[in-house]
Amino acid sequence: MYSITEARFLAPDIKLFRIEAPRIASKRKAGQFVIVRAHSDGERIPLTIADSDIDAGTITIVVQGIGKTTKLINSLEAGDEIQDVVGPLGEPSDIREFGTVVVIGGGVGTAIAYPTAVAMKNSGNKVIAIVGARTKELLILAEEMQQTTDQLFIVTDDGSAGEQGFVTQKLQELIDQGCDVDHVLAIGPIPMMNAVASLTRPHQIKTIVSLNPIMVDGTGMCGGCRVLIGGQSKFACVDGPEFDAHDVDFTVLSQRNQMYRQREQKALDEFHSDSSSVDDNNHCHLRQQHPEVGPRRPQAAS
Ligand code: FAD
Ligand code: NAD
Ligand code: FES
Repeated sequence: MYSITEARFLAPDIKLFRIEAPRIASKRKAGQFVIVRAHSDGERIPLTIADSDIDAGTITIVVQGIGKTTKLINSLEAGDEIQDVVGPLGEPSDIREFGTVVVIGGGVGTAIAYPTAVAMKNSGNKVIAIVGARTKELLILAEEMQQTTDQLFIVTDDGSAGEQGFVTQKLQELIDQGCDVDHVLAIGPIPMMNAVASLTRPHQIKTIVSLNPIMVDGTGMCGGCRVLIGGQSKFACVDGPEFDAHDVDFTVLSQRNQMYRQREQKALDEFHSDSSSVDDNNHCHLRQQHPEVGPRRPQAAS
């Protein structure tokens, strides 16, 4: 069991957790992820390690509640426990001195891009961050990005924070202004990563994306996370999750991610009807559904 030491919402449906996992905290590198199972018969889902604290023996994950398992995890609080946290998994990001690196985070993708932005800065790069969200309330980690990078641009679809527009418009502007971009990392929705790849391809700017196929075992055995890269099949869990954006077949990625949409919707509907007694703090009655999930630690005697 893995204890949660901190849990707080960064934005509606996006929650940050610090979890005691000393071995993972000391081994993990930027770009790697863990596979989490909330309870003993729960589904395994991949989540990026957004940060770690070796002294405290904790890792940080940021979870966007979009389906049954992520919503279930987001109902946990500090003091609760998670059944399994396996990792670190995947190939670390390629961190070198490239020169000027533009790190682009779209929505919750910002949490996934953040550790690589930190590592790029620590390796002597000039790091420019572009952080995008649909609206002000959904912006996350902007302050952390500000502290880490040389320049931060915030864009929102509705203009409620920063400049109005998509992250790609800001990148286009930088290129048009003659900014010498040596390397781009873009993480967010598939259409966003695809759009960034199309923008940088004619300029031959090396562009890396972190892919988010459905994963099951995370060990290269089940084939669930197969992606098509430069016409070849790769497994994102062991060969990635980061790949050269100009080689990625985004159509196949998008199609494969939609394969289980009906079943996922059914699971979410069942979850919602089971947890109709969610309280004001978004704390659903998980323990009634899964008594083994996240038992609270005994309170210290006062
Ligand atoms: P499901 O019921 O499985 O799916 C609900 C909806 O989400 C469906 O529309 C479905 O098509 C879509 N979906 C399913 N799987 C994925 C996926 N892998 N990516 C995108 N959409 C998906 N999410 C975070 O919130 N934070 C992270 O740090 C993070 N890191 C990830 C790292 C990797 C390497 C990968 C592969 C994925 C990562 N994800 C992250 C995505 C996360 O794993 C999925 O959102 C989660 O598995 C969905 O599970 P669910 O049961 O809640 O939803
Ligand atoms: P979102 O839909 O709110 O989009 C965030 C930002 O991305 C937008 O504000 C915009 O600036 C940009 N964007 C979106 N579509 C674009 C397009 N067509 N062209 C250019 N820019 C575009 O994002 P969200 O709701 O926070 O969702 C985050 C997404 O990240 C989810 O769709 C999820 O599938 C994906 N995700 C990716 C990973 C990964 O490893 N790559 C992991 C988890 C989640
Ligand atoms: Fe099974 Fe990658 S998740 S092969």
